[in-house]
Amino acid sequence: MKIGIFDSGIGGLTVLHQALRTLPNEEYLYYADVDHVPYGEKTKDEILRYVDGAVGFMVSKGVKAAVLACNTATSVAIGTLRKKFDIPILGIEPAVKPAVEGCEGKRIMVVATPVTVREEKLKNLIVRVDGEHMVDLLPLPRLVAFAEKGEFRSPELWNYLKTRFSEYDLSDYSFLVLGCTHFNFFKDTFRRIFPKCVRIIDGSAGTVNHLKEVLKENGLLEHNPFSVEYYLSGRKVTDAARLERIRKLHDRLEQMLRL
Ligand code: DGL
Repeated sequence: MKIGIFDSGIGGLTVLHQALRTLPNEEYLYYADVDHVPYGEKTKDEILRYVDGAVGFMVSKGVKAAVLACNTATSVAIGTLRKKFDIPILGIEPAVKPAVEGCEGKRIMVVATPVTVREEKLKNLIVRVDGEHMVDLLPLPRLVAFAEKGEFRSPELWNYLKTRFSEYDLSDYSFLVLGCTHFNFFKDTFRRIFPKCVRIIDGSAGTVNHLKEVLKENGLLEHNPFSVEYYLSGRKVTDAARLERIRKLHDRLEQMLRL
């Protein structure tokens, strides 16, 4: 049985990429809701409806577990979906806790979509773990669109990010937490903007380790030859050009892991 991995677009490939390293003997179904991306500035009701439809689709395909590889979808929809579907449903959240544990008195910058920044889920997490008030939250509303266009390096992207960070003294920071799965595609640019000593982290390894535990606890781990089926808002990807584009995105993520 397959594991369903969901995102509004290409961001969840970060989690799939991590899963292929940690759980290489599983079969995957990757669902990108390209008809509705970006989610980050939509209403909660819209996001809930889209994610519900996507998870319903994956369940109809027989997935044994579903991962919302999208911080925005997780913050809005995970509670409702866990009540509705009777397979394990996992989410992703910004890696604030490890940053607080390792920050040694320096500040932590969390970047995410506007919805994730606004939602209670992240605020509650920060209240729970950030007793010393070290976290600054910064929405980056245009970054998902840059990613979906495949615009990973351009003067416009550079200016956008430089402007967004211009009010902060980046030498005050110990961690940059990527609170949106799309943002991993820009790690090289973040690396150039932030001082070398700033660590850049995200929640994908935590999510995949949790997935492994949940599959194990439920006796759902398998030993299959690895495979992935890709769907774009319910339409199976079969054409070579699109599959090649996805392969290149995995290559980029592999490069980003080395930074
Ligand atoms: N990858 C999604 C996240 O982690 C981006 C959501 C969007 O489409 O704006 O939040």
